[in-house]
Amino acid sequence: MIEAMNGLFITFEGIDGAGKSTHIERLAQALRAQGRVVTLTREPGGTPLAEQLRQMVLNDPMDAMTEALLVFAARRDHIHRVIQPALARGEVLLCDRFTDASFAYQGAGRGFDWDILVTLERWVQGGVLQPDLTIWFDLPANVAALRLAGARTPDKFESQPQAFFERVAGGYASRMSADPGRFARINADQDAQSVWSEVDRAVREKGILS
Ligand code: TYD
Repeated sequence: MIEAMNGLFITFEGIDGAGKSTHIERLAQALRAQGRVVTLTREPGGTPLAEQLRQMVLNDPMDAMTEALLVFAARRDHIHRVIQPALARGEVLLCDRFTDASFAYQGAGRGFDWDILVTLERWVQGGVLQPDLTIWFDLPANVAALRLAGARTPDKFESQPQAFFERVAGGYASRMSADPGRFARINADQDAQSVWSEVDRAVREKGILS
């Protein structure tokens, strides 16, 4: 049972290489400076069990259904142990990826059944839990590929071809058109300061930063 909540739930999405991390940190600092209690977390992960599942999902070969079930199993544990309690305490929860990533990666990227993902989402999120705001760092797949080239050793997803990330980006676009009020689409193909200005504007428009 998902209980009523009064915290704020903000998620960050985008293809690998879109550059979410520095902006998540910066937003956390800005919110703390305004006296908010901020919890930073990520998916897959955020609990000891979900972090173990993350290692498997990011490194072990598996079919798309297994992958989908594991990311939702990790999410169930994360919601139950971290997300719901933090929101119930009235905190701001900043989560690096959430369910939109399952639609984008397992659904659009790997071709797993979209309707089954809808069912899993309803099941695991109790039909009510959704982010208050999802910041989508939108970056062309070819630009992301250049950014990732030469970076640390790629994991299973980061080593996918550009066509995979084009499909993933299409998955994010579908999720945004199904629920436009929840999303802020940021042009991530700019210098970091310009990207931050867009993030800052998006959270101010929602009344999250004053
Ligand atoms: P990422 O968030 O990019 O972390 P890091 O910056 O440490 O690489 O990596 C998580 C990966 O997991 C990313 O490639 C997307 C993938 N993923 C899924 O495939 N499905 C999901 O439901 C989630 C949450 C992530």
